[in-house]
Amino acid sequence: MKKAVCPGSFSPVTNGHIDIIMRAAKLFDEVTVLVVTNPDKRCAFTADERCAMIEKALKGVPGVRVDKWDGLLADYVKQNGINAIVKGIRSSSDFDYEFQMALANKSLAPEVETVFMTADPQNMYVSSSLIRQIASFGGDVSDFVPKEIVPDIEKGLK
Ligand code: PNS
Repeated sequence: MKKAVCPGSFSPVTNGHIDIIMRAAKLFDEVTVLVVTNPDKRCAFTADERCAMIEKALKGVPGVRVDKWDGLLADYVKQNGINAIVKGIRSSSDFDYEFQMALANKSLAPEVETVFMTADPQNMYVSSSLIRQIASFGGDVSDFVPKEIVPDIEKGLK
């Protein structure tokens, strides 16, 4: 059984994240969407709120589960027998950031591969921070996130 993890802050999950998760689910037997604490970011939603939004958006997708983690990603993948870390890449700046993390994870957990997927062109400019900014000024975020979670985002950020 081939297992992958899609880790991130997901504050909140976007259409770009969902696209990568669905594509990963076609390649792996089990995909864990992992809400990870990023010490460099202050999150607008708690880890449980972020997990709940992802679960709502992915309800019924076979082979996909949601979990949270407050620690090194390398430790989670080792403890859970994960084969691959899947990351979406929107731009060369994403690549620079992700490449550094992939090398660090390779050193910490050598048996795990990082797999990069190019973002769908439609989602190239979509980011959680863009969504937070639009929602905090009362704008409409429904083009950028799954429709099921629009009310949660509006409620949490207005
Ligand atoms: O969505 P983000 O914030 O870009 O995701 C980054 C994240 C949370 C996946 C990354 O910061 C991470 O893996 N954090 C866990 C701590 C860790 O393992 N740090 C070293 C990464 S090489």
